Amino acid sequence: MKLIKAVRGTKDIYGDDGIKYDFITKTAQEFFKNYGYSLIKTPIFEETDLFKRGVGEGTDIVEKEMYTFQDRGERSITLRPEGTAAVVRCYLENKVYAKEDVSRYFYAGSMFRYERPQAGRQREFNQIGVEVLGESSPILDAEVISMGYSFLNKIGITDLEVTINSVGEKESRVKYREVLLNFLNPMKEDLCDDCRMRMEKNPLRVLDCKIEKCKELTALAPIITDSLTEEERNHYETVKKYLNLFGVKYKEDPRLVRGLDYYSSTVYEIVTNKLGSQGTVLGGGRYDNLLKQLGDKEIPAFGFAAGVERIMMLLGEDFPKRDLDVYIAWLGESTMDPAFKIANDLRLSGKSVAIDYNSKGMKSHMKKADKVGAKNVIIIGEDEMSKGVVMLKDFVNRTQEEVSIENLKNILK
Ligand code: HAM
Repeated sequence: MKLIKAVRGTKDIYGDDGIKYDFITKTAQEFFKNYGYSLIKTPIFEETDLFKRGVGEGTDIVEKEMYTFQDRGERSITLRPEGTAAVVRCYLENKVYAKEDVSRYFYAGSMFRYERPQAGRQREFNQIGVEVLGESSPILDAEVISMGYSFLNKIGITDLEVTINSVGEKESRVKYREVLLNFLNPMKEDLCDDCRMRMEKNPLRVLDCKIEKCKELTALAPIITDSLTEEERNHYETVKKYLNLFGVKYKEDPRLVRGLDYYSSTVYEIVTNKLGSQGTVLGGGRYDNLLKQLGDKEIPAFGFAAGVERIMMLLGEDFPKRDLDVYIAWLGESTMDPAFKIANDLRLSGKSVAIDYNSKGMKSHMKKADKVGAKNVIIIGEDEMSKGVVMLKDFVNRTQEEVSIENLKNILK
């Protein structure tokens, strides 16, 4: 029989990877809670138009990477390629802006992009992300950049580089578009097909092209920071001032434009040199125009998303492995039922417990306890049972004592 395999570009997460995934997403959620973020979960699929209008018709995501299909009701549905557009859709649909001034959300989950799979690039991948809606202060930009950076440091990922830029807003974008097109027009025929298309739809994205020839040709392109208005420049300067205050080292990259159309003003990425060409661990920025585009609302917003698989690759073996409170070793048939009763009671009192269903000798129990990473082992032998006690072995401190069954819960607290 032919075994069915996972679809190209998808990856199972289980075993140690499952523990790593859990560690990353749970630590992120806990960490971001300190900054006032709460969980948001939006559907995995949305109406296709949300991404066309949100992410932008000229982007790689919308042009060639979306998983789009007709459902049985003949609606055009798309598996979400990213999280921001859906968060904004939910926020607008539920009129959250009428209920609170500033909303701060955290999310974690699968995204789908039909890209060419390689290490660190999948067709189904996971992101953790945050979105803040309703705040225009540049201090927020710096705070969110610092939060993502500090989170990565906290879980053990260092050697990261923060690159930032300002891509301006409407007025300066129109001005820059013209300046850039004047520069690009004479070389149009030498640019790649994608770049020629980008020149029509969003010329800024020509600067994001990964093809060497295009990079070389546009190396001396005018930079957007020269077209910023005074207000935009002040915003950018304040972001940098607060990044310094929060101790975040950054590099300015005037060519950083990001691959999604909704950005304005501050954009940034956090990059590593340890993942080859897929070195962007986290990316985000301000998207004040997206709420206008999707719901005709003047509401500012800022956020980021990070690739969980890329974080997992960077963590390697450096994460807290199995963390089990107790392994129960029962020796002899008559100890089996009391052992399972103790396991059940301890689990109900909040302890994590492992117990084997088959009778085993002491040696193989100890091996198993070690393998599952138990901090304690409770040994239940027939002699101990008759006295109403068990042997409690502390694997961490290497001590051992006889404990009455009633007292177990208190001791393991
Ligand atoms: P993005 O830059 O498209 O931004 O994706 C964010 C991160 O997701 C990337 O830096 C990368 O780590 C990861 N990622 C993207 N594509 C793949 C892939 N094919 N395989 C593995 N990992 C991948 C966004 O998605 C925006 N929604 C971020 C944002 C939130 N901006 C404002 N708020």
